[in-house]
Amino acid sequence: MRTHFIWHSYLPFILLSFCVHCGSSGSACKIKNRKADCSHLKLREIPSDLPTNITALDISHNQLKTLPPANLTKYSQLVYLDVGFNTISKLQPELCQVLPLLKGLNLQRNQLHALSDNVFTYCTGLRELNLGFNIITIKKDSFRTLKNLKSLDVSHNGLSSAKLGSQQQLESLQELVMSQNKITELNKEDFLFLSNSSLQILDLSSNPLTEFYPGCFHAIGNLFGLNLNKVQLGPSTMEKLSLGLSNTSIQNLSLSQVQLSRISNLTFNGLQRTNLTILGLSNNYLSVIENGAFAWFKNLQTLNLENNKIAHLFSHSLDGLSNVNYLNLKNSINKKIDDFAFQSLKRLEYLIMDDNTFPEITPKTFTGLENLKNLSLSKCIITLGTIKRTITNRTFSSLADSPLQFLNLTRTKITNIQAGAFSWLGELKTLDLGINEISQELTGQEFQGLSSIETIYLSYNNLLTLTSDSFTFVPSLRKLRLRRVGCSNLDISPSPFHVLQNLTILDLGNNNIANVREDLFDGLHQLEILDMQHNNLERLWKHANPGGPVLFLKGLQNLGLLDLESNGFDEIPGNVFHGLSKLRSLNLGSNNLNLLPELVFNDLASLTSLFLQKNLITAVEEEVFGTVFANLKVLDLGSNPFDCTCESIAWFVNWLNMSKTYIPGLNQYLCNTPPKYHSTVVVRFDTSPCDSAPFKLLFIVSTTVILLLIFVVLLIHFIGWRIKFMWNVSINRVLGFRDIDRPQQQFDYDAYIIHAKRDKNWVYKNFIPLEERRQNNEPIVRFCLEERDFEAGISEFEAIVDSINRSRKIIFVVTNHLLKDPWCKRFKVHHAIQQAIEQSRDSIILIFQHDIPDYKLNSALYLRRAMFKSRCILEWPAQNERVSAFYQQLKSALKSSSRIW
Ligand SMILES: *[C@@H]1O[C@H](CO)[C@@H](O)[C@H](O)[C@H]1NC(C)=O
Ligand SMILES: *[C@@H]1O[C@H](CO)[C@@H](O)[C@H](O)[C@H]1NC(C)=O
Ligand SMILES: *[C@@H]1O[C@H](CO)[C@@H](O)[C@H](O)[C@H]1NC(C)=O
Ligand SMILES: *[C@@H]1O[C@H](CO)[C@@H](O)[C@H](O)[C@H]1NC(C)=O
Ligand SMILES: *[C@@H]1O[C@H](CO)[C@@H](O)[C@H](O)[C@H]1NC(C)=O
Ligand SMILES: *[C@@H]1O[C@H](CO)[C@@H](O)[C@H](O)[C@H]1NC(C)=O
Ligand SMILES: *[C@@H]1O[C@H](CO)[C@@H](O)[C@H](O)[C@H]1NC(C)=O
Ligand SMILES: *[C@@H]1O[C@H](CO)[C@@H](O)[C@H](O)[C@H]1NC(C)=O
Repeated sequence: MRTHFIWHSYLPFILLSFCVHCGSSGSACKIKNRKADCSHLKLREIPSDLPTNITALDISHNQLKTLPPANLTKYSQLVYLDVGFNTISKLQPELCQVLPLLKGLNLQRNQLHALSDNVFTYCTGLRELNLGFNIITIKKDSFRTLKNLKSLDVSHNGLSSAKLGSQQQLESLQELVMSQNKITELNKEDFLFLSNSSLQILDLSSNPLTEFYPGCFHAIGNLFGLNLNKVQLGPSTMEKLSLGLSNTSIQNLSLSQVQLSRISNLTFNGLQRTNLTILGLSNNYLSVIENGAFAWFKNLQTLNLENNKIAHLFSHSLDGLSNVNYLNLKNSINKKIDDFAFQSLKRLEYLIMDDNTFPEITPKTFTGLENLKNLSLSKCIITLGTIKRTITNRTFSSLADSPLQFLNLTRTKITNIQAGAFSWLGELKTLDLGINEISQELTGQEFQGLSSIETIYLSYNNLLTLTSDSFTFVPSLRKLRLRRVGCSNLDISPSPFHVLQNLTILDLGNNNIANVREDLFDGLHQLEILDMQHNNLERLWKHANPGGPVLFLKGLQNLGLLDLESNGFDEIPGNVFHGLSKLRSLNLGSNNLNLLPELVFNDLASLTSLFLQKNLITAVEEEVFGTVFANLKVLDLGSNPFDCTCESIAWFVNWLNMSKTYIPGLNQYLCNTPPKYHSTVVVRFDTSPCDSAPFKLLFIVSTTVILLLIFVVLLIHFIGWRIKFMWNVSINRVLGFRDIDRPQQQFDYDAYIIHAKRDKNWVYKNFIPLEERRQNNEPIVRFCLEERDFEAGISEFEAIVDSINRSRKIIFVVTNHLLKDPWCKRFKVHHAIQQAIEQSRDSIILIFQHDIPDYKLNSALYLRRAMFKSRCILEWPAQNERVSAFYQQLKSALKSSSRIW
């Protein structure tokens, strides 16, 4: 394994330096955070106009031929310099002198040839040096001064020897990459220059090595990791290598693609005197592992045998691997595994067996794996158990003593699971049975004994029929995936899921489900993710569904993610999302929704992602979306036929202008209607004509005017007379016609009595007696009665006017006769009212002999009761006993002053 590689720590800075151009001189370098990226600019010169405080400079992939130190003097703060992929052929010692802080220097893929002896004299601070893909020839001890160098790359330089120096040096070196050279042999003294170094990794991959002389690796102070990938070793060279590594500190040995077709008990013999912990043997066409071949690896922890062609894994092939914790056998066994083949791997926790072919898993196959936690058999072509491609109750019996927690059986072409198939796996937490060909009714017995199970993947199987008991034995389930398993009918009672009270994830996507009951998810209070995309649920939400819409989401109070894409929904009941206050993401994409009920989203207080793409939505209105849009972080309304009119879209466009919500592809939102805007972009819809401010004002003003008008009309209709009357009274007062409260003596009469001719007798009979009562010999009241008091010789007209003027008050004796009497109607009344207006409302007294409704009074005499004070309106009593009380009332009315108010 490669240790920490400091090149990489600079890489992100270079990759991240984007978009900031140094404008001043036209040089197109990008500068960010004191890093300058001048790569790929066809430069022939080092830019001279960069900020002098830059710490990293990338001028790789250009056309520099030289690297003159003088041109870098101004960038003396450089810590990292990349001049890879140019055509530089010479290095000058002064480079490190002008760049005293330099830690990383990348010179890969240039044409460096001769390195002078003192070329790195001043580079004592350098940590990383990449000279890969040049044509350097090593003069003696060029690297002598690189005391702090940790990583040196001299790969692909045509080197024929690994000897980079004659004396001890590079004492800080941790990584030496010498791959792709022409090194054919390692001599005893080649690595003496590293005799005080502790190499984490020595990379000699892709060299034509054929000879490892004894002691060659012992020259290195400490060697922990060795990479010999793509070195054509073959069995005999391998034995020499093993001996060469004997008694070294080697821990990690990578031997991928070394053409090791066979391993015998001699191959790694020399490695018994090492503490090797990691061994990689992948991609070797390895076909035979003889019994005892790994017997030497007492300390090995990780063994990778991926991509080999082991025909037959013998019962003792893996003997001795008692400390191995991780074994990768992916795509490496193609015929047979003997019983007890794994028996010595007592510490094994991870066994990766994907992509293998062997005839069966017997009740002895995994015997002895006392610590196995994780077994992956995905893509294995196994004929499981006795019945082909069936997991029986014997298949995994060899794992009865393993604390297995994870079992992956994807893509194993299983067709059937028998009762009790997993009953041995009481500690299993995750079971992946996805992507198989299982076709059966799940009775529940299949999962019997999985008492710790938390996750079952059953997605992508042929046909799973669920029953009420399907999950009875696994109430501890938290995640259940049933995507595309053909369980189209969930109209089952009780629901198959009713026992899964701890379920947090349920995937029922792509099942063509058309029929569910309202109680399908009853009790799933912990459910956080529900996938029901690509089903056929549209009928369930239809208004017209017999029995009403089926609200199958009710009670899912912890739901955070709901996917209902592609269900054909064209209606949503207004209360369907009721109570989903924790929902964060709702996908209703690819349905047929057009109009949404007004408050449908209002319960979704936590919603941050809403997907409504590919529907038939024409309008995006505040009433529906105003509340839910407020918290959104992501919104997709793409591919809807927007109606670009003020009513439909103006609010949305205004919202878009202010919103910070991420809306992918917003510029592809197109108007569909009206024809004038067809195919124009929604965001460009001009909302100014719909601007609501002047609109509102106009609305308010016109409404006010209309209301006012209506009010006035009603007012005039109902009390217009009162206004008119008061108006006249007021005018008279203001204009000074006020003529009231003339002293008593100026009136000859207390009251002028207006009555109908036909009421004459009644009036005389009832009013004259009042005059006859006397006080101090003076009459208490004096009435003016037409026929009695009018002076002869004067016209009736004048007499009336005169008499009225001489009377302090006017009494109307209101009877049905009076209403019909032409004289009264036309003249007397008019005159009386005139007087009332000029003097006072109090100057008229109405005496009702009959009960006359106000409207009749009004239409006949233009009088209303409300024009007068209540004490001036008297009723002639029906009972005789009350007549004297009436007289009292009349007297006090006559006495009252005639003040207007
Ligand atoms: C170095 O600087 C000199 C003088 O400014 C210039 O002529 C030359 O082209 C530069 N060389 C490189 C490789 O930048
Ligand atoms: C580096 O120099 C540039 C101008 O050359 C200046 O704008 C910038 O602030 C400097 N950065 C630091 C970290 O000093
Ligand atoms: C070897 O390296 C150690 C530190 O790693 C140092 O103390 C010692 O002096 C070095 N020996 C030689 C001979 O350079
Ligand atoms: C190696 O295997 C051979 C048979 O293949 C056997 O005779 C020999 O004893 C074994 N050597 C060791 C060290 O186990
Ligand atoms: C292997 O490790 C043991 C114990 O840590 C140690 O005593 C032994 O010297 C090591 N062997 C080698 C070859 O480093
Ligand atoms: C396994 O199943 C068979 C029938 O298929 C049954 O007879 C046997 O008892 C079962 N064994 C166990 C251990 O459940
Ligand atoms: C099972 O293995 C397949 C293929 O290697 C992989 O894609 C899948 O994620 C694994 N299942 C689990 C639960 O990790
Ligand atoms: C459900 O989860 C709770 C809390 O983690 C746990 O105590 C309980 O045993 C679980 N129920 C089942 C049936 O596993």
